[in-house]
Amino acid sequence: MFPDLTRDDVFRLETRRLWLRWPRQADAPAILRLAGETAVAEMTARIPHPYPAEAATAFVLASRRANAEGSGLTLAITPRAKPGTLIGAVAITEQDGRAALGYWLGSPHWGEGLATEAVRALIDAYFAYTSGGELHASARVINGASRRVIEKCGFVPTGSRLHPFPARGGVFPVDTFRLDRRTWSSFKAWSSTGFVPQGRHEESHAV
Ligand SMILES: CC(C)(COP(=O)(O)OP(=O)(O)OC[C@H]1O[C@@H](n2cnc3c(N)ncnc32)[C@H](O)[C@@H]1OP(=O)(O)O)[C@@H](O)C(=O)NCCC(=O)NCCS
Repeated sequence: MFPDLTRDDVFRLETRRLWLRWPRQADAPAILRLAGETAVAEMTARIPHPYPAEAATAFVLASRRANAEGSGLTLAITPRAKPGTLIGAVAITEQDGRAALGYWLGSPHWGEGLATEAVRALIDAYFAYTSGGELHASARVINGASRRVIEKCGFVPTGSRLHPFPARGGVFPVDTFRLDRRTWSSFKAWSSTGFVPQGRHEESHAV
């Protein structure tokens, strides 16, 4: 799915506050501590709870393998000032033949817009570096924060369904969403279309 550019572990995405980089074994303790929290794990399909120590190592290995093969792209979310410190993860992987978005952020960092910032960067990379036409996302119907992140990134709701959550031991109702390349492209262009608020327009003519 992803090209040579992202398949090397020097690949990085930079945003105003974040560096997104390949996960490393040194991240395992942070993954264990942050993803191991009930509030994070219970919203995800694959993060076990309690989180066994070896699961963090396995996650890093599997992510790096998929990144190297280009079959997905999983990146550690780190603060720009501390790129060695993992605070969450964001990924696009293939699920049922479709490109699917997933993410989590450690609870001490919630409510600052960081997940949205990370997700937007990975979406931009997906449409910029691959020929993929659309991305899919889903969130448990009780997960208002995740739904909001998805909406702020331009995804459109496509319905609800029961989705397998292997780490939770069952199926759970989720809302599903889709973002196609044209909608993403339109979102990106919106801020540069030249709209001038009324007051500012008049001020500029009054000079
Ligand atoms: C979902 C998650 C990534 C959000 O991280 P975050 O950095 O706090 O997200 P952001 O700050 O970028 O955006 C959150 C938005 O949800 C809103 N929000 C927070 N709690 C909410 C709730 N209970 N109901 C509705 N909206 C909520 C916030 O106000 C914000 O929207 P705003 O910018 O319009 O005010 C984080 O809570 C998390 O990791 N949760 C556990 C794992 C998870 O749910 N992963 C996604 C699986 S689909």
